[in-house]
Amino acid sequence: IVTLGIVASLSVGSARADAARDAALLEQASGLFEPIPPEPPQLPGNPLTVEKIELGKMLFFEPRLSASWFLSCNSCHNMATGGVDLQPTSIGHGWHRGGRNAPTVLNSVFNFAQFWDGRAKDLMEQAQGPVQAAVEMNSKPADVVATLNAIPEYGRRFAAVFPDEKDAVNFQNMARAIEAYEATLITPNARFDKFLRGDKAALTDREKAGLGLFMEKGCAACHNGINLGGNSYQPFGVVEKPGAEILPQGDPGRYQVTKTASDEYVFKVPTLRNITLTPPYFHSGTVWDLEQAVAVMGRSQLGAALDDREIAAITDFLDSLIGEMPRTELPVLPAIGTGGPAPHL
Ligand code: HEM
Ligand code: HEM
Repeated sequence: IVTLGIVASLSVGSARADAARDAALLEQASGLFEPIPPEPPQLPGNPLTVEKIELGKMLFFEPRLSASWFLSCNSCHNMATGGVDLQPTSIGHGWHRGGRNAPTVLNSVFNFAQFWDGRAKDLMEQAQGPVQAAVEMNSKPADVVATLNAIPEYGRRFAAVFPDEKDAVNFQNMARAIEAYEATLITPNARFDKFLRGDKAALTDREKAGLGLFMEKGCAACHNGINLGGNSYQPFGVVEKPGAEILPQGDPGRYQVTKTASDEYVFKVPTLRNITLTPPYFHSGTVWDLEQAVAVMGRSQLGAALDDREIAAITDFLDSLIGEMPRTELPVLPAIGTGGPAPHL
């Protein structure tokens, strides 16, 4: 009986210690991260309406925005696969491979700038890029507008969404509508978010250990905020530059935008939300295994040789960042009329 009493009081004691440890972990995490809100954020200068979001969704899935009528935004940012194409670097017009890995569109509305080098300030500016990029959709604004004008239903929909404009079917409004749809592509209620909201049982012990390491080791110095990333530019290779197979010399990153020497090999810190779903990793898309990506980060960004147990715990924690995917019903796109440009390869 005496022994049992000791065991019971020991386990009460350790339960108390666990609760105290969880409370401290939650407090530290709450200072660094924020849960994803349940509703899409408002966009400055682009109010969200149901009709605009629906139009934007049609355009996101609209292959006729590409020269070939074969590629849509969804070709490379597939809603069925975490908002990415699962390619090292994307395959675009004429089967050409681009130079960088496609980042997810999920939660991209929370990033402070768009693209790996931040060259677009927001999603509206961003959406005008791929349609014209030779290695992506390879079209021209005038051709896109001509195509949209040849589809009578788009004329009606653009006019309804932008009622104050005389020529509502234009390239900017296409981008506005796509931006509005993208604002809805958020993934709330990840188990990590439940933890941040106070549900201490939402993470397993190993994930809690991983979260602790993620903060202690210094990952959270760059991967913080609502997206665990997406809010700063940092050099890839702060302590040790990865080899050219992971960090190809030909892509100096943010330097291409600013032409400032200190911006060589500087990239936007990517979000880690849903990261388990979106291999391969890094702007070069050269690392398929998330544990390996974590190990590379340890060495290159922190000068830390993480051991296998630490890498596994951190990777487990990253799993808890998978949120609720947007429920996507494929839009039925309207029939083409006459007078627009023909598709070409
Ligand atoms: C980057 C959306 C079409 C491949 C991005 C980003 C967004 C986006 C929001 C930036 C994400 C971030 O930085 O976190 C769209 C939309 C499209 C479209 C709305 C349709 C209008 C495409 C297509 C491809 C593609 C068709 C593949 C052929 C890429 C790549 C990047 C990117 C490779 C990274 C480029 C870089 O950082 O330089 N896209 N995308 N996208 N997208 Fe798309
Ligand atoms: C990329 C995790 C520390 C800055 C990544 C990626 C992962 C990751 C998984 C790949 C994301 C993707 O491809 O979408 C971690 C972990 C860390 C850590 C677990 C701690 C061990 C840091 C630190 C910094 C940082 C301290 C800033 C000094 C970056 C940057 C990239 C990145 C700039 C993009 C690299 C590129 O592809 O150009 N991180 N990270 N990370 N992280 Fe970290």
